[in-house]
Amino acid sequence: MKKFVSLLLVLTLVLSVFAVASAEGAKKVGIAMPTKSLERWNSDGEYLDEQFKAAGYETLVVYSDNDVNKQVNDIQNLLAEDVDMLLITAVDGQALNTVMDEAAEKGVIVIAYDRLIMHDAVSYYVSYDNYTVGKLQGEFVESALDLANAGDKTFNMEFTAGDPADNNAGYFFNGAYDVLKPYIDNGTIKVVSGQTEFQQVATAQWNTDTALDRAQNLLASYYADGTVLDAWLCSNDSTAAGVAQAIESDYAGDNVVIVTGQDADDVNLVNIYEDKQTMSVYKNLGNEVIVTLAVAKAALEGEIDGEQLATTFGIECDFDTESYETTPGNKCPSFLLVPTVVTKDNMQVLVDTGFYAWNADNTYVQKVK
Ligand code: BGC
Repeated sequence: MKKFVSLLLVLTLVLSVFAVASAEGAKKVGIAMPTKSLERWNSDGEYLDEQFKAAGYETLVVYSDNDVNKQVNDIQNLLAEDVDMLLITAVDGQALNTVMDEAAEKGVIVIAYDRLIMHDAVSYYVSYDNYTVGKLQGEFVESALDLANAGDKTFNMEFTAGDPADNNAGYFFNGAYDVLKPYIDNGTIKVVSGQTEFQQVATAQWNTDTALDRAQNLLASYYADGTVLDAWLCSNDSTAAGVAQAIESDYAGDNVVIVTGQDADDVNLVNIYEDKQTMSVYKNLGNEVIVTLAVAKAALEGEIDGEQLATTFGIECDFDTESYETTPGNKCPSFLLVPTVVTKDNMQVLVDTGFYAWNADNTYVQKVK
């Protein structure tokens, strides 16, 4: 019996040493997502957490209700937990200075996830090519209305962009606007409200109801007299959902209005199936997380050769050291993935990612994780 007890003691000791070793060995990664109120950050937060855990990291995930002060506080709490790395999707890319200084002082590696932070403490940026997202939306409208061959025909459209606090929003808008500008300039496209500046068409916090309200106002002011609306360029799905709802309730015309979006969110995929939205730009979550994990792993192990690393993902991804700056002149090494256009006709591409499945009658797809 004595022998058994001492064997048990030794075993317990060995096991607890192992437990300490693995807890001490595991690097801690703090994941700061902007909010749970926009569909994509729930998926991103959960999947980042799952994949980093599976790779042996200890993770702490926070969501900040789209509230800048809460995010600062949440990140300070992560720093107090002695995280080795922070993955941050900023609520406001300009508003994290103090907490980024603190991260730099503690030597914590910061990866800006999807949205850039305007602070030099950011070591790497992982995102999709944001300008290309907008460009794909603009090109979609260009081709759907066959603008290049419009001749004397003219078309009416409006714009809805994203949150000015989100560094991505301007890139999306410019990417789309640059494609459509020549047609606006030559009169083929008429923006009936006259609102073509980013600040005029922006949507605080990418909020669906804010987009809905503005769209209702524009429809009442400029289209109630029977003016035909041909297209509404929306930068993402949360804003497109509001615009589509306004068109449904407040637009009297019976034409199908071309509405763009981004993210392939569940509500929007149903809208695409029902012709209330026409396309969405999909940014494969799995791929963004694979790249983030690889960059995080390499950064935690030492210096990164970004060019070389980008060839190892097995995913189309540019290592770009020119396009993004955290402060004027300070280029941020960026890993930029390539987005895909999704319409009614190619929803299978979403199913192929493993993140979506067809609904019961095989008409549209929905997220499964
Ligand atoms: C992301 C988009 C998203 C938007 C609102 C942007 O920073 O890149 O995918 O639609 O935030 O959540």
